[in-house]
Amino acid sequence: MRSIAAKFPEFRARRLRSTANIRLLVQEHSLRASDLIWPIFVHDGNSPEPVPSMPGVERISIEATVEAARKAAEVGIPAIALFPKVDPATKTRECEEAWNPDNLANRATRAVKDKVPGILVMLDVALDPYNALGHDGIVVGGRIVNDETLACLEHQALQHAKAGADILGPSDMMDGRIGVIRKAMESSGYEDMIILSYAAKYASVFYGPFRDAIGSGRVLTGDKRTYQMDPANSDEALRMIQRDLDEGADMVMVKPGMPYLDICRRVKSTFGVPTFAYQVSGEYAMLMGAIEKGFLDRELAIIESLTAFKRAGCDGILTYFAMDAAEILSRTDR
Ligand code: PBG
Repeated sequence: MRSIAAKFPEFRARRLRSTANIRLLVQEHSLRASDLIWPIFVHDGNSPEPVPSMPGVERISIEATVEAARKAAEVGIPAIALFPKVDPATKTRECEEAWNPDNLANRATRAVKDKVPGILVMLDVALDPYNALGHDGIVVGGRIVNDETLACLEHQALQHAKAGADILGPSDMMDGRIGVIRKAMESSGYEDMIILSYAAKYASVFYGPFRDAIGSGRVLTGDKRTYQMDPANSDEALRMIQRDLDEGADMVMVKPGMPYLDICRRVKSTFGVPTFAYQVSGEYAMLMGAIEKGFLDRELAIIESLTAFKRAGCDGILTYFAMDAAEILSRTDR
């Protein structure tokens, strides 16, 4: 950017901040409901179950998920992401439940697409909800084995496609998964399947509350550092994005969100492709913790935190605040 020479008093920055209208007129980025993807936790019970580490978030039934999808569509949220909390009895080391055509994720997807066909349904492709050891890949002798996991992810992705998922979100961080899933989609008549790759996914402490929500934390042995990225790295993220785009990803994601806005900016500036970030469970927990204590204003904290993603170059954000944000945006002009 060329340097701007104007000095005081010719230049007074406060002129363009002096009223709400002039601020709106010069605003560079804005948040809309259509930027948001709403993650929803689904379970097989009938009554909602609060997630203690995520105040305000509940695991809900398939029926309630359909209702939630309807409400999201009404307020202009284009997509929901469904996360199943499966019966612990179905978790195995082989993770077969992941490709059961009638597993919870697939049943919930069919129900939503049947009743609210317009909303986009995204499903994670990863084994952790189904794994007796809580990992995203098959564990053999204490190691998470890459290539054996790819075959499982392929089966899982195919069943998710058959159930009617619009977007697949491979979130496992195995090498080669995007290529395998893309090839499977092309050869099975799902050439229009959208892949939103969790491409730059870091081994983060901020996923803790999510693991409570889907019940994978309790069973997790060790950590995910042999497949998720080191939070200290940035160049590596660009390599991950390049690799996943080459293998057939349509859109890419950075995860977590707020502590990684520098990565979002680098990704968008370097590749110019549809870029998403996930404001993850731990970020939600931090904000809600402060909001509940009265330390932060709820509406301002939600809108400012989400607008920051737009400023950093994101086209959209996965956020547990999606419904709250849409509601706030519908009655205020920021
Ligand atoms: C599972 C998955 C995780 C999240 C989304 N998909 C957790 C993990 O990798 O351990 C985290 C989402 C959140 O924290 O909100 N592959």
